[in-house]
Amino acid sequence: MPKIAIVDKMHQDGINLLKNNPKFECEVIEDISKNNLIAKLPEFDGITLRRGKVDADILAKCKKLKVISRHGVGFDNVDTKFLKKNNIKLLVTATTTSVSPAEHIMFMIINISKGKDFFDKAVRNGEFESIMHMNHQNFELSNKKILIIGFGRIGKKLIKRCLGFEMKVYAYDPYVKKNEIESLGGIKVENLNDGLKEADIISLSVPLTAETKNMINFDKIKIMKKNAVVINTSRGGVVNEKDLNDALNNKIIYGAGIDVFEKEPPDNNNPLLKNKKVILSPHAATFTQECLSKMSIETAQNLIDFFEGRVSKNSIVDI
Ligand SMILES: NC(=O)c1ccc[n+]([C@@H]2O[C@H](COP(=O)([O-])OP(=O)(O)OC[C@H]3O[C@@H](n4cnc5c(N)ncnc54)[C@H](O)[C@@H]3O)[C@@H](O)[C@H]2O)c1
Repeated sequence: MPKIAIVDKMHQDGINLLKNNPKFECEVIEDISKNNLIAKLPEFDGITLRRGKVDADILAKCKKLKVISRHGVGFDNVDTKFLKKNNIKLLVTATTTSVSPAEHIMFMIINISKGKDFFDKAVRNGEFESIMHMNHQNFELSNKKILIIGFGRIGKKLIKRCLGFEMKVYAYDPYVKKNEIESLGGIKVENLNDGLKEADIISLSVPLTAETKNMINFDKIKIMKKNAVVINTSRGGVVNEKDLNDALNNKIIYGAGIDVFEKEPPDNNNPLLKNKKVILSPHAATFTQECLSKMSIETAQNLIDFFEGRVSKNSIVDI
């Protein structure tokens, strides 16, 4: 009977699916420290993984391991080279992890375009009358240009929402064909700089790779319009935090929405935490009741399907 480790908390719906399946023996491991994972994981045939880094030191001890089922779609916390070399499969929640992140991007865009919590505070603080002036910086989304960088699962959900707001959508993704973008109502941008020059809003939905690390740095931000807004819900490090903070402070761009950080949780002295031009969330783009439940079920089901020899090709990462 395969032994399964559920590494890190996940929604009870997914845990129940594994625990109630008599064909598996499973255990929840909440302590995701490296020492604990090295001590615990060697006895397991398969693991689910949310947070926690599974590096080569840990994997080298896991002689029985056949599969890792990621709770999510990013896999920068796993040593994929080791997995490939040792024929350990990597699965992701390919079908349930895009609606909530796309909605979260819209939440950030709308919040920034409508002045964050400024109005709410004004009403509560008795400043109703004092904001009846004509100098608000809020702006309409209609007719604004958004550049979606990374036109995968989330990008494809995001475009529909942006078109609903009558925005003009550009997409930069060298790996997606022009006709696929056009069939969804977007315009393919061949050169990143051209897109950055045109866009009012830039949203990133790319994996963290050697190619995407620091893809938005000071040089790229300098190309953007003065009114530009950058939204990063992909991975910390794709947007250089220091460069973004400097650019906002020097009014090179207008605002930003940041869900993911170079270091998570961010240090207290991370300057973005004090920057009023940024809306922040704690890597929470999937934190809806629906998404957390569905992701946990898909994570568990992927693992069950793997051991029963019927895992969907869409869920297997080509590493
Ligand atoms: N904040 C969150 O909670 C949260 C939730 C889900 C996903 N994510 C992150 O968002 C990323 C995207 O998710 P997805 O499901 O859309 O993934 P996906 O794999 O479906 O799409 C990623 C897209 O990025 C493109 N891409 C890769 N390198 C690129 C580059 N250099 N320039 C432009 N495009 C490039 C790929 O071609 C692909 O189309 C994930 O890798 C993950 O890191 C974060």
